[in-house]
Amino acid sequence: MEKVKINQHVSFSKVIQGFWRAKDWNWTPQALNRYINELIDRGITTMDHADIYGNYSCEGIFGEALKLSPQLRNEIEVVSKCGIVLPTDRIPNANGHRYDHSSQHIKRSVERSLQELNVDYLDTLLIHRPSPLMNPDEITEALKSLVTEGKVKSFGVSNFNKSQYDLINHSLVCDKLHITVNQLEVSPYTLDAIDDGILNHMFKDDVKIMAWSPMAGGKLFDLNDEKAKRIMHVITPLTEKYEVTTNSIIVAWLNKHPASIMPVLGTHNINRIDAALEGFNFTLTDQEWFDIYTASLGHDIP
Ligand SMILES: NC(=O)c1ccc[n+]([C@@H]2O[C@H](COP(=O)([O-])OP(=O)(O)OC[C@H]3O[C@@H](n4cnc5c(N)ncnc54)[C@H](OP(=O)(O)O)[C@@H]3O)[C@@H](O)[C@H]2O)c1
Repeated sequence: MEKVKINQHVSFSKVIQGFWRAKDWNWTPQALNRYINELIDRGITTMDHADIYGNYSCEGIFGEALKLSPQLRNEIEVVSKCGIVLPTDRIPNANGHRYDHSSQHIKRSVERSLQELNVDYLDTLLIHRPSPLMNPDEITEALKSLVTEGKVKSFGVSNFNKSQYDLINHSLVCDKLHITVNQLEVSPYTLDAIDDGILNHMFKDDVKIMAWSPMAGGKLFDLNDEKAKRIMHVITPLTEKYEVTTNSIIVAWLNKHPASIMPVLGTHNINRIDAALEGFNFTLTDQEWFDIYTASLGHDIP
């Protein structure tokens, strides 16, 4: 599988596996270990996490699976996120729902992620969401020390718009660091990042795009959803034309965008992973891409 260079130390697989739902999978460490191996066999080596997933439990679930074959660490890239606080008794001071981008919180969160994931470093740390209270100096300070200590190899953001990205990146660039990745919600169902200019801005700065919920978190398959119904009405004949499934068409649709989008798949079904990968074996025509786009908009383009 194609590798995407993030910086001089880190490259991602073009397709990424997300672990947001890993608690719901209810797998044993052995079953998860098998699944990770199946992903690696297919060239999917980048694993996306966040401190808060599964009420702060998903990183630990992954760490237990990794313990069964520690050599796997050398074959994968581990991404995690911090900055959202959810009320939980699993960690100290998490007594409400807020954002915390203080240097102290970022460093503590990374320490916990490393311990839970059973790894010595994160390939990439993302700030999970922008905060109205974020201070670029605090983020830069945390990142500098995490990079110096070898705990983080590259840095990015998630759900940041243009001004939020500019604010943080400006401060980092002064310290010879920079944002390498912006993880955004992008799918045929959710076009905001395509239409509001953030994707173009990232493309211009060579910041790589991870697309979260590329299948709209499963909403695309909900036939009670009017927007999903419109999109599926266009996709279904294409599955017949290309002899593939819906998951393949969606990946082909994302892959046609020139910004070289990396889908972060949330499925735990290896057949759906294979279907998604088939989306790289053919190219939708421009007309087909726009038919899906306008079905999602619900009206024609001007
Ligand atoms: N940065 C952020 O703010 C943010 C937010 C949300 C998510 N994420 C990341 O993005 C990753 C992916 O998000 P996601 O889980 O929403 O991704 P997704 O791939 O859009 O959705 C996965 C869901 O869709 C279902 N699904 C997939 N194909 C299907 C089909 N053909 N028919 C019916 N159901 C189907 C899956 O069920 P099965 O498992 O049964 O296939 C699963 O429940 C997360 O794990 C996380 O790493 C990041």
